[in-house]
Amino acid sequence: MPSFMEPFRIKAVEPIPFPSGEERRAALVSAGYNLFRVPAKAITIDLLTDSGTAAMSAAQWSALLSGDESYAGARSFERFESVVRELTGFTEVLPVHQGRAAERIVLHRLLGHGDLSVANTHFDSTRASVLAAGAEAVDLPVSHTDGAANPFGGNIDVPALKTLLSGPAGDAVRCVVLTITNNANGGQPVSLTNVRETKVLCDRYGIPLLLDASRFAENAYLVATRSADLAGLEPRAVARAIFDLADGCWASLKKDGVANIGGLIAVRDSGLADRCRDQLIETEGFPTYGGLAGRDLDALAQGLVEVTEPRYLRYRAESARWFAELLEQAGLPVLRPTGCHAVYVDAGRLLRHVPPALLPATALANELYLAGAVRVSELGTLVFGRPDPEGGPDLPAPRELVRFALPRRVYTANHLEYVAEVAGEVAAKAGSLRGYRVVRQVGRMRQFTAVLEPVA
Ligand code: F0G
Repeated sequence: MPSFMEPFRIKAVEPIPFPSGEERRAALVSAGYNLFRVPAKAITIDLLTDSGTAAMSAAQWSALLSGDESYAGARSFERFESVVRELTGFTEVLPVHQGRAAERIVLHRLLGHGDLSVANTHFDSTRASVLAAGAEAVDLPVSHTDGAANPFGGNIDVPALKTLLSGPAGDAVRCVVLTITNNANGGQPVSLTNVRETKVLCDRYGIPLLLDASRFAENAYLVATRSADLAGLEPRAVARAIFDLADGCWASLKKDGVANIGGLIAVRDSGLADRCRDQLIETEGFPTYGGLAGRDLDALAQGLVEVTEPRYLRYRAESARWFAELLEQAGLPVLRPTGCHAVYVDAGRLLRHVPPALLPATALANELYLAGAVRVSELGTLVFGRPDPEGGPDLPAPRELVRFALPRRVYTANHLEYVAEVAGEVAAKAGSLRGYRVVRQVGRMRQFTAVLEPVA
């Protein structure tokens, strides 16, 4: 058993389903072999996402009752605004219903046809917003080599950013985005130094630096524990040092808000805030509720305080590390070092006989479901593959990853041991797994609705 333990006890429980092997097969077939389409009642352990899946604390549940549901100027908003201002230092605070609403509002104010947004890696919804604004999304992650343990694998490649900004395309760059932690790149942290160096470049070229701060607390904890010069600093202080370098942020609060819904935009520039507010009114709601109920804002205000507690963050990071060890012992190639919100497995390495075009990450994810009703997500070619501009087969994703996301405060060590057992069964027959092909897909985020079929 792990040398750390859950820093909470359980006050309310929810039974979990145990579908039989036959029921699992039937559920997967009728879902078109797409785990997003499998109903939750057919899932035993759901590691699809850490988004909106957190267990709220007793303090958050009781905060719900203080919710002020006034349309305008609710006290709930005042409490939310004051917590966000104190945490981030940004003066202009706009609530939204979730992260992608924030992305759309901010990015459509900054970007137009032919413009560029540059990031350590745009998350898929962020990329979709950039493209919808008529702009292009350029990812400049630090390069990673198999097995190389970079403590700050979420960083942006600063020399590459410098080359881009000083070159002919530099004039088209309207924003630089740092996603903390870098979800699409192994959930790895972005160091304080990397943010500082990025800010210097942004200032030199007069470009705003924005954070996708959806996992700001986990980033701060990982940065504090991996930087010798920050040892002993509270995660809150590290988070603040990072926010201080940026011009603004957006966040999905379904992650480090430790609640089930919510998001925010927070910036220093009151002109940009006014333009965002104008759009917020058109698509989300009045600026003091932004598509949320007053009670949601109270739960978030409390969650944003709890999430920076060092003991909670230590448990979060250590349980991910311990779970990664279990998966590795079970025979899965795990990405190292681990972050906090998920453990990533390299399906490309496990299933070398399945080419990227036949979606090895999907093959592994689906087999985990069939073996034990465990649901994980694919972050491989189904999600990050690109249409070939020449009209050929899709261009593969850089890596074929499967993500075992860890909902906050939901599953115990025993649950994770069960997942590792299931993973062991699947790893033992990895050589016999077959790929999948897409039979129906729509739009830029095909993974959510695509229908697949196994390749014979
Ligand atoms: N940015 C990052 C880094 C994210 O991970 C997500 C969502 C979003 C923005 C969008 O936020 O879902 O509230 O609209 N990530 C989820 C995930 C869906 O499973 O990683 P949203």
